[in-house]
Amino acid sequence: MPKLDVAFVLELVPEELGQLKTVVIDVLRATSTIVAAMSAGVPYIVPVATVEAATRLAADYAERGGCYLGGERNKLPPPGFDCGNSPLEYLQLSSEKPVVFTTTNGTRALNRVIDSKEILIGSLGNAAAVAEVLVTSPEDILLVCSGTLGQIAAEDVLCAGLIIQEMQNRATVLLTDAARIALASYQRVAGNLTEYLLQTRSGQGLSQLGLERDVLHAAEVNYSPVIPKFTDGRIIAWESSRA
Ligand code: MLT
Repeated sequence: MPKLDVAFVLELVPEELGQLKTVVIDVLRATSTIVAAMSAGVPYIVPVATVEAATRLAADYAERGGCYLGGERNKLPPPGFDCGNSPLEYLQLSSEKPVVFTTTNGTRALNRVIDSKEILIGSLGNAAAVAEVLVTSPEDILLVCSGTLGQIAAEDVLCAGLIIQEMQNRATVLLTDAARIALASYQRVAGNLTEYLLQTRSGQGLSQLGLERDVLHAAEVNYSPVIPKFTDGRIIAWESSRA
């Protein structure tokens, strides 16, 4: 039976990832935004580490149909970007153009697990859909919490807990102690997830910037069946990866 583990911060991600299926989580806000964008029909997303690299890549795309340049630093869109990191913005995007995307923690996490056997993207919005796939996995699984600049982000641990809860609703799962902590944390606050998210460090930071609506959207559980997958430098919808 495959084992399920949770890394509360990137620094706890093991060096050896080749045999692992990983799920990257950044509830506030990168993976909530990726799920929103893919749910809105964006063809694919290219996550990059720096603002400079994102700007250069977007300039390249200008000669081949164009793209949206999206992301944040200090929670706000850098100069010249088309979009910030608000999931609500990406629900409005047309499905013609891809997105070149850079954020502080979420895209760093994606690059950190790039050697994994398979990389899926999880949020509260698609937890059940991700769990549905994970319960059939022959490989061991690692849920990777992006955290905030090396600090634990409570909302990411809760999301890992929800995904585990959804898996247990479907099958018997072999949990590590870190996974048990995530599950217990989620079960403890399941009834008032939105209030809890608003109290977290990131939740408060976003509210102070007038971005409380992003927290409310990120707190919506299982609204999307979409499972984004990071492969060959692009984030695509999982279904299309099976074609
Ligand atoms: C991140 O990736 O660091 C977060 O999503 C930042 C944010 O948007 O607040």
